Amino acid sequence: MLTIALPKGRIADETLRLFQNIFGSKFSFENRKLIMEDSGFRFLYVKNQDVPTYVLRGAADLGISGLDVLSENEYPLSYLLNLGIGKCDIVVGMKKGHRIDPSSAKIRVATKLENIARNFFATKAMDVDIVKLNGSIELAPLVGLSDAIVDIVETGTTMKENGLEPVEKIMTSTAHLFANQNSFVTRKAEILDLTNRLKEAISGS
Ligand code: PRP
Repeated sequence: MLTIALPKGRIADETLRLFQNIFGSKFSFENRKLIMEDSGFRFLYVKNQDVPTYVLRGAADLGISGLDVLSENEYPLSYLLNLGIGKCDIVVGMKKGHRIDPSSAKIRVATKLENIARNFFATKAMDVDIVKLNGSIELAPLVGLSDAIVDIVETGTTMKENGLEPVEKIMTSTAHLFANQNSFVTRKAEILDLTNRLKEAISGS
């Protein structure tokens, strides 16, 4: 049985829909259960940022994460497929009307994507004071905790509702399928078979 770690939320929902289309079974987590087995697969329902950990340590053979998570570290994983789902942008957001001042030496940035933020401002030769947060990032500039945020934008509603706007796009993120390197050696045929089925399901949808 292959074990697959999924990130809670939209990517998990869309992935399970793909599995439904391919294997014709229900593929849904009951109530508050964090583990589910269906059609010879076991799924783990984990926090976004934790998916690579489950796969790196072999608790899951496969994982699905957005590029926002995967770009934060150079994980020794086998990357298999861009699923194209969970599309969002990673942007710099500031209070409406504000802009990045490239002549200023330092900027305070609230984010959970520390490395992406640091690398982005390094290209502008700006020093960045990272305020590491784990959620509700949009609040930080409103209460003077930071000058800007680096965060993901899907519909743009959260920023808009909080009087922020994207001022620069850093990258587009979509969800990728990856494997534990050891699993990919020992269970290569199974993993490649699933990868191909997913690829077909995506191109047919
Ligand atoms: C993400 C992100 C934004 C929001 C963007 O938050 O951090 O807050 O979604 O979506 P929108 O552009 O469609 O409004 P998430 O729901 O993951 O919660 P958290 O970061 O506060 O944990």
